[in-house]
Amino acid sequence: MLGLITSGWAIYNAAPFYNFEFPSSWTLGGYLTSALRWHFFLIWSFTLCTLMLWLTRVTLQTGGPRLWPISLRGLVTDARAVWGLRLAHRPQTYHHIQRVLYLAVYALMGLLIVSGLGLWKPVQLQMITQALGGYEACRRWHFWSMWALVGFTVVHVAMAITVPRTLIAMLLGVSVEVKSRDHG
Ligand code: HEM
Repeated sequence: MLGLITSGWAIYNAAPFYNFEFPSSWTLGGYLTSALRWHFFLIWSFTLCTLMLWLTRVTLQTGGPRLWPISLRGLVTDARAVWGLRLAHRPQTYHHIQRVLYLAVYALMGLLIVSGLGLWKPVQLQMITQALGGYEACRRWHFWSMWALVGFTVVHVAMAITVPRTLIAMLLGVSVEVKSRDHG
Protein backbone atom coordinates (compact mmCIF):
# COMPACT_ATOMS: atom_id res chain seq x y z
CA MET A 1 0.00 0.00 0.00
CA LEU A 2 2.82 2.34 0.88
CA GLY A 3 4.40 1.68 -2.52
CA LEU A 4 1.09 2.28 -4.32
CA ILE A 5 0.48 5.50 -2.40
CA THR A 6 3.97 6.93 -2.93
CA SER A 7 4.20 5.91 -6.60
CA GLY A 8 0.70 7.43 -6.98
CA TRP A 9 2.05 10.69 -5.56
CA ALA A 10 4.78 10.72 -8.22
CA ILE A 11 2.12 10.14 -10.89
CA TYR A 12 0.05 12.99 -9.47
CA ASN A 13 3.13 15.27 -9.49
CA ALA A 14 3.48 14.77 -13.25
CA ALA A 15 0.13 16.53 -13.79
CA PRO A 16 -1.16 17.96 -10.51
CA PHE A 17 -4.81 18.98 -10.40
CA TYR A 18 -4.49 20.91 -7.13
CA ASN A 19 -2.20 23.74 -6.25
CA PHE A 20 0.43 21.58 -4.59
CA GLU A 21 2.91 18.80 -5.29
CA PHE A 22 4.37 16.08 -3.09
CA PRO A 23 8.10 16.42 -2.29
CA SER A 24 9.88 14.08 -4.70
CA SER A 25 11.79 12.46 -1.80
CA TRP A 26 8.39 11.17 -0.53
CA THR A 27 7.59 9.47 -3.82
CA LEU A 28 8.43 6.06 -5.22
CA GLY A 29 9.85 6.08 -8.70
CA GLY A 30 10.57 9.82 -8.71
CA TYR A 31 9.26 10.57 -12.19
CA LEU A 32 6.28 9.42 -14.21
CA THR A 33 7.62 6.44 -16.16
CA SER A 34 9.20 4.59 -13.27
CA ALA A 35 6.40 5.58 -10.88
CA LEU A 36 3.86 4.04 -13.27
CA ARG A 37 5.98 0.89 -13.49
CA TRP A 38 6.05 0.60 -9.69
CA HIS A 39 2.32 1.29 -9.54
CA PHE A 40 1.45 -1.37 -12.11
CA PHE A 41 3.81 -3.85 -10.44
CA LEU A 42 2.11 -3.37 -7.07
CA ILE A 43 -1.54 -3.30 -8.13
CA TRP A 44 -1.63 -7.08 -8.60
CA SER A 45 -0.86 -7.96 -5.00
CA PHE A 46 -3.23 -5.26 -3.78
CA THR A 47 -6.01 -6.60 -6.00
CA LEU A 48 -5.32 -10.20 -4.98
CA CYS A 49 -5.37 -9.26 -1.28
CA THR A 50 -8.61 -7.32 -1.73
CA LEU A 51 -10.28 -10.24 -3.52
CA MET A 52 -9.11 -12.65 -0.83
CA LEU A 53 -10.42 -10.34 1.90
CA TRP A 54 -13.80 -10.07 0.20
CA LEU A 55 -13.99 -13.83 -0.18
CA THR A 56 -12.78 -14.84 3.28
CA ARG A 57 -13.84 -11.98 5.53
CA VAL A 58 -16.99 -10.69 3.82
CA THR A 59 -18.50 -13.65 1.94
CA LEU A 60 -17.39 -16.65 3.99
CA GLN A 61 -16.94 -14.72 7.26
CA THR A 62 -13.82 -16.67 8.22
CA GLY A 63 -10.38 -15.53 9.37
CA GLY A 64 -11.64 -13.21 12.09
CA PRO A 65 -14.70 -11.92 13.91
CA ARG A 66 -17.98 -11.74 11.97
CA LEU A 67 -18.60 -8.62 9.88
CA TRP A 68 -22.35 -8.99 9.58
CA PRO A 69 -25.24 -8.98 10.38
CA ILE A 70 -25.42 -5.29 11.19
CA SER A 71 -28.56 -3.88 12.76
CA LEU A 72 -29.72 -0.32 13.29
CA ARG A 73 -30.41 -1.19 16.90
CA GLY A 74 -26.85 -2.48 17.36
CA LEU A 75 -25.47 0.67 15.76
CA VAL A 76 -27.51 2.94 18.04
CA THR A 77 -26.47 0.97 21.15
CA ASP A 78 -22.81 1.11 20.13
CA ALA A 79 -23.01 4.80 19.27
CA ARG A 80 -24.44 5.51 22.74
CA ALA A 81 -21.63 3.49 24.33
CA VAL A 82 -19.02 5.42 22.29
CA TRP A 83 -20.61 8.70 23.36
CA GLY A 84 -20.41 7.70 27.02
CA LEU A 85 -16.86 6.30 26.55
CA ARG A 86 -18.19 2.88 27.56
CA LEU A 87 -17.49 0.87 24.41
CA ALA A 88 -15.33 -2.02 25.58
CA HIS A 89 -12.78 -3.73 23.32
CA ARG A 90 -13.66 -7.40 22.77
CA PRO A 91 -10.91 -9.20 20.81
CA GLN A 92 -13.10 -11.94 19.25
CA THR A 93 -16.16 -9.83 18.46
CA TYR A 94 -16.68 -6.71 16.40
CA HIS A 95 -19.16 -4.06 17.46
CA HIS A 96 -21.64 -2.98 14.86
CA ILE A 97 -19.72 0.26 14.30
CA GLN A 98 -16.52 -1.71 13.71
CA ARG A 99 -18.38 -3.95 11.25
CA VAL A 100 -19.62 -0.95 9.27
CA LEU A 101 -16.15 0.61 9.24
CA TYR A 102 -14.39 -2.54 8.08
CA LEU A 103 -16.97 -3.15 5.36
CA ALA A 104 -16.59 0.49 4.29
CA VAL A 105 -12.83 0.00 4.03
CA TYR A 106 -13.24 -3.11 1.89
CA ALA A 107 -15.61 -1.12 -0.33
CA LEU A 108 -13.01 1.67 -0.48
CA MET A 109 -10.37 -0.81 -1.65
CA GLY A 110 -12.85 -1.84 -4.35
CA LEU A 111 -13.31 1.80 -5.35
CA LEU A 112 -9.53 2.23 -5.65
CA ILE A 113 -9.35 -0.79 -7.93
CA VAL A 114 -12.35 0.21 -10.04
CA SER A 115 -11.26 3.85 -10.45
CA GLY A 116 -7.69 2.65 -11.11
CA LEU A 117 -9.00 0.39 -13.88
CA GLY A 118 -10.96 3.33 -15.31
CA LEU A 119 -7.71 5.33 -15.44
CA TRP A 120 -5.60 2.49 -16.76
CA LYS A 121 -7.86 1.54 -19.70
CA PRO A 122 -10.09 4.57 -20.30
CA VAL A 123 -10.94 3.37 -23.82
CA GLN A 124 -11.46 -0.36 -23.32
CA LEU A 125 -13.11 0.15 -19.90
CA GLN A 126 -14.88 3.40 -20.74
CA MET A 127 -18.01 2.12 -18.98
CA ILE A 128 -16.13 2.53 -15.70
CA THR A 129 -14.48 5.84 -16.60
CA GLN A 130 -17.79 7.31 -17.74
CA ALA A 131 -19.70 5.95 -14.73
CA LEU A 132 -17.25 7.85 -12.50
CA GLY A 133 -17.82 11.08 -14.42
CA GLY A 134 -15.06 10.94 -17.06
CA TYR A 135 -11.27 10.69 -16.91
CA GLU A 136 -10.59 13.79 -14.79
CA ALA A 137 -13.34 12.94 -12.30
CA CYS A 138 -12.00 9.38 -12.16
CA ARG A 139 -8.60 10.79 -11.15
CA ARG A 140 -10.30 12.64 -8.25
CA TRP A 141 -12.15 9.48 -7.14
CA HIS A 142 -8.86 7.58 -7.19
CA PHE A 143 -6.97 10.33 -5.37
CA TRP A 144 -9.57 10.91 -2.66
CA SER A 145 -10.14 7.22 -2.00
CA MET A 146 -6.35 7.01 -1.54
CA TRP A 147 -6.60 9.71 1.16
CA ALA A 148 -9.54 7.95 2.80
CA LEU A 149 -7.51 4.73 2.97
CA VAL A 150 -4.49 6.62 4.35
CA GLY A 151 -6.74 8.27 6.97
CA PHE A 152 -8.29 4.96 7.97
CA THR A 153 -4.88 3.29 8.26
CA VAL A 154 -3.43 6.05 10.45
CA VAL A 155 -6.42 6.06 12.84
CA HIS A 156 -6.62 2.26 12.82
CA VAL A 157 -2.94 1.79 13.74
CA ALA A 158 -3.09 4.61 16.32
CA MET A 159 -6.07 2.93 18.00
CA ALA A 160 -4.39 -0.46 17.88
CA ILE A 161 -1.38 1.03 19.69
CA THR A 162 -3.68 2.01 22.55
CA VAL A 163 -4.56 -1.69 22.97
CA PRO A 164 -1.06 -3.21 22.43
CA ARG A 165 -2.07 -6.86 22.33
CA THR A 166 -4.09 -6.22 19.18
CA LEU A 167 -0.82 -5.20 17.49
CA ILE A 168 0.53 -8.72 18.03
CA ALA A 169 -2.70 -10.13 16.60
CA MET A 170 -2.46 -7.77 13.59
CA LEU A 171 1.17 -8.61 12.86
CA LEU A 172 1.13 -12.36 13.57
CA GLY A 173 -2.47 -13.20 12.75
CA VAL A 174 -2.97 -14.91 16.12
CA SER A 175 -5.06 -13.69 19.00
CA VAL A 176 -3.20 -13.31 22.28
CA GLU A 177 -4.95 -14.37 25.46
CA VAL A 178 -3.98 -12.15 28.37
CA LYS A 179 -4.38 -14.04 31.65
CA SER A 180 -5.26 -11.96 34.66
CA ARG A 181 -3.10 -12.30 37.77
CA ASP A 182 -6.05 -13.63 39.80
CA HIS A 183 -6.11 -16.72 37.65
CA GLY A 184 -2.36 -17.16 37.75
C1 HEM B 1 -5.95 -2.19 -9.33
C2 HEM B 1 -5.59 -1.15 -8.63
C3 HEM B 1 -5.07 0.14 -9.24
C4 HEM B 1 -4.93 0.53 -10.55
C5 HEM B 1 -5.30 -0.25 -11.80
C6 HEM B 1 -4.36 1.85 -10.56
C7 HEM B 1 -4.07 2.60 -11.69
C8 HEM B 1 -3.63 3.89 -11.69
C9 HEM B 1 -3.35 4.69 -12.86
C10 HEM B 1 -3.50 4.24 -14.29
C11 HEM B 1 -2.95 5.91 -12.45
C12 HEM B 1 -2.52 7.09 -13.33
C13 HEM B 1 -3.58 8.14 -13.42
C14 HEM B 1 -3.16 9.30 -14.28
O1 HEM B 1 -2.46 9.10 -15.27
O2 HEM B 1 -3.57 10.42 -13.97
C15 HEM B 1 -2.97 5.91 -11.01
C16 HEM B 1 -2.67 6.99 -10.22
C17 HEM B 1 -2.69 6.97 -8.85
N1 HEM B 1 -2.93 5.89 -8.02
FE1 HEM B 1 -3.55 4.07 -8.65
N2 HEM B 1 -4.17 2.24 -9.27
C18 HEM B 1 -4.58 1.22 -8.44
C19 HEM B 1 -4.54 1.18 -7.07
C20 HEM B 1 -4.14 2.22 -6.28
C21 HEM B 1 -4.07 2.19 -4.85
C22 HEM B 1 -4.45 0.98 -3.99
C23 HEM B 1 -3.64 3.42 -4.42
C24 HEM B 1 -3.42 3.94 -3.04
C25 HEM B 1 -3.72 3.31 -1.93
C26 HEM B 1 -3.43 4.23 -5.59
C27 HEM B 1 -3.03 5.53 -5.58
C28 HEM B 1 -2.86 6.31 -6.70
C29 HEM B 1 -2.59 7.74 -6.69
C30 HEM B 1 -2.42 8.62 -5.45
C31 HEM B 1 -2.49 8.14 -8.04
C32 HEM B 1 -2.25 9.57 -8.56
C33 HEM B 1 -3.61 10.16 -8.90
C34 HEM B 1 -3.56 11.09 -10.10
O3 HEM B 1 -2.86 12.09 -10.01
O4 HEM B 1 -4.23 10.84 -11.09
N3 HEM B 1 -3.74 3.46 -6.71
N4 HEM B 1 -3.40 4.66 -10.56
